[in-house]
Amino acid sequence: MEPSRPAVTAPGTAPGLPSAAAGGPAHARGDARGGGRPAKEPFGRLPDGTPVHRWSLENGGTRLGVLSYGGIVQSLEIPDRHGTYANVCLGFARLDDYLAASPYFGALVGRYGNRIGAGRFTLDGRVHHLSVNDGAHTLHGGATGFDKHVWDVEPFTRDFEAGLVLRRTSPDGEMGFPGTLRAAVTYTLTRSGDWRVDYEATTDRATVVNLTSHVYWNLAGEGSGSVEDHELTLAAARFTPVDAGLIPTGELAKVAGTPFDFRRAKPVGRDLRAGHPQVVTARGFDHNWVLDKGVTARPEHVATLRDPAGGRSLRIATDQPGLQFYSGNFLDATLTGGGGRVHRQGDALCLETQHFPDSPNRPSFPSTVLRPGHTYRTTTVHSFGT
Ligand code: BGC
Repeated sequence: MEPSRPAVTAPGTAPGLPSAAAGGPAHARGDARGGGRPAKEPFGRLPDGTPVHRWSLENGGTRLGVLSYGGIVQSLEIPDRHGTYANVCLGFARLDDYLAASPYFGALVGRYGNRIGAGRFTLDGRVHHLSVNDGAHTLHGGATGFDKHVWDVEPFTRDFEAGLVLRRTSPDGEMGFPGTLRAAVTYTLTRSGDWRVDYEATTDRATVVNLTSHVYWNLAGEGSGSVEDHELTLAAARFTPVDAGLIPTGELAKVAGTPFDFRRAKPVGRDLRAGHPQVVTARGFDHNWVLDKGVTARPEHVATLRDPAGGRSLRIATDQPGLQFYSGNFLDATLTGGGGRVHRQGDALCLETQHFPDSPNRPSFPSTVLRPGHTYRTTTVHSFGT
């Protein structure tokens, strides 16, 4: 059943966010014609002086705060069943914290989301050596991925929608990837408060692409503690087991009878301590689920996350074949979030729609190759309810 949306009148306050995020003067207000125009405010500078901005937009009862740095979703505020707003994604209040050490909080991940084994792949007979930043492997596009660049941001409002188009050109050879990749990612807040992400990219040489969004969700509110009681549903009968370096072994294993079976709603923490070797290897869930629907022409519903306490829910629809469910295993109490609370293991989780990790080295997985003359296009829609 579709979760319904409460009528919302009273704005709440997201803890620890700049005043604009909590409905202050710089915040764009939604209106009957489909959301106010996104508003922009300074959010600091990179060490080389490049300015970073924070954009805020609101529509259909959802409020989004986005940084031009890394396309980072710094805040996403939605109401609970009483109409009380909270920021439901992990982020920092200051740019310096993102620059110092962020585990991809809210970031746009590219050129290749998740891992490429041994930091290399062969395409059309040529070996490409990538930036290695995760043991012997390449993670989320290498040491300086798309999450660590300032994007050009263009706001828009149209047809009852408000949004941002983020653009960046990744030069040929960046992090070892071949081809100049022109990427455009559109964040849209729809009339009903969905957050839709449309990715597009073109290249001038054959390359591989796998873009995703790395939001850490906690539907009870950022800094509210563990998400182990959140209930998760994943429309996937198989997952891709990994080796000690979290690289898929190539097998598509059945979830039936294992902790990986989320085909019916299950608390995230229920089987975390059952000792399944794959859960032990990853220190929790950090795997790609093979979505039953496969690659589809349009986004289809694949995941539901619900906080039974406050009632907030998230539904994800995608056209992608995989979803990385990462249960926040490496949050180790060394980072303090925007609300002033320390994040510990399991205080948030990620649901990253994607092609499978290490696909460039696995011909049996759906292809991630993009060639000149073709356009990479994918869409993921996040819907919220109570
Ligand atoms: C990966 C994890 C990684 C996390 C933060 C996830 O997408 O699967 O292994 O620790 O991102 O980098």
